[in-house]
Amino acid sequence: MLQTQEIETTKGTITNIILSNNQETSVVVSNLGATLLNFKTQDKNGKLQDIVLGFDTIEEYFSNTDTYFGASVGRIANRTETASFSLNGETFQIDKNEGDNNLHSGPNGYQTRVWEVESLDKSINQVTFKLDSPDGDQGYPGHLTLKITYQLTDDNQLKITYQAISDKDTPLSPTNHSYFNLNGHASGSIENHLLQLNASAYTPIKDSTSIPTGQIVNVEGTPFDFRHPKTIGQDINQTFDQLQFASGYDHNLLLDDPNLQTAFATAVGDKTGIKLEAFTNLPGVQFYSGNFLNNHPGKNQASYDKRHGFCLETQFFPNAINTPNFPSPVLKANETNSYQTIYKVSIE
Ligand code: BGC
Repeated sequence: MLQTQEIETTKGTITNIILSNNQETSVVVSNLGATLLNFKTQDKNGKLQDIVLGFDTIEEYFSNTDTYFGASVGRIANRTETASFSLNGETFQIDKNEGDNNLHSGPNGYQTRVWEVESLDKSINQVTFKLDSPDGDQGYPGHLTLKITYQLTDDNQLKITYQAISDKDTPLSPTNHSYFNLNGHASGSIENHLLQLNASAYTPIKDSTSIPTGQIVNVEGTPFDFRHPKTIGQDINQTFDQLQFASGYDHNLLLDDPNLQTAFATAVGDKTGIKLEAFTNLPGVQFYSGNFLNNHPGKNQASYDKRHGFCLETQFFPNAINTPNFPSPVLKANETNSYQTIYKVSIE
């Protein structure tokens, strides 16, 4: 089922779309930022749990430039070193919003914009949002048209599809920045969740700036080895410089086999039995264990503290635009690119 809800805000009318299926699962997505606001599903006792963190009011999403709850991030998710890059012989400068570097494309991110509701398709439980990002927007070249489609299927898959075209070559690495807590958004630490990742390598960071060194390192024998299920907390406090730089996990892992049929990640909430499987055709995932949450006010009076949520941000690798040995995030002029990430829920 698909329903819409109009909300008056200080910046005009916002449209939220509620998609629900015959399994009692529902999501709420907003044309404010093409944001995922709620993701409700039944736990092992049949109780509905909202498994994503978020703000209490829609108004707060206009300034979603710190935690990025549920955000659609673009044009480039993650870090760009020195907030600049060269493309086709030209140098481009973007905002420095994290020291000398750029994080998530800066203060005027796509998650703070009002997107067009381009189409609603009740028969397949689907909504498409569209954003026109002019040449020079955030400092990037080319007029980019980005469409994000959310679809909720009857087998509990939330499919997020990105479709993009630009009139000039431009870097593009969009992501969804939802924080999951499979025990329920207000249930505290995620450290006892089980996690498994089909990722045999990761990109270490230089220091607490979180800029990758450019190396690709095997996870074997490191806390980043999630190839067999273990709790998120099992190795998180190890004395390992990579974990210390970021106060926990906040690193890009290379997916062994990015595809839409085999999950690259499986996580289970220890209290609810809710299982999340994630699929993508993008090459990397930033696994972030919510290290910088600090008693952040959230939905229904919740307070989100350190490690109360985790993100699986599918994307090109951080700083890929400046790192020749990483897969290129450049979208070629007048070519359409399409990426998809699927979050599927069930009961373990
Ligand atoms: C980054 C974190 C950051 C978080 C919220 C993640 O993608 O890797 O370092 O704190 O986003 O901005």
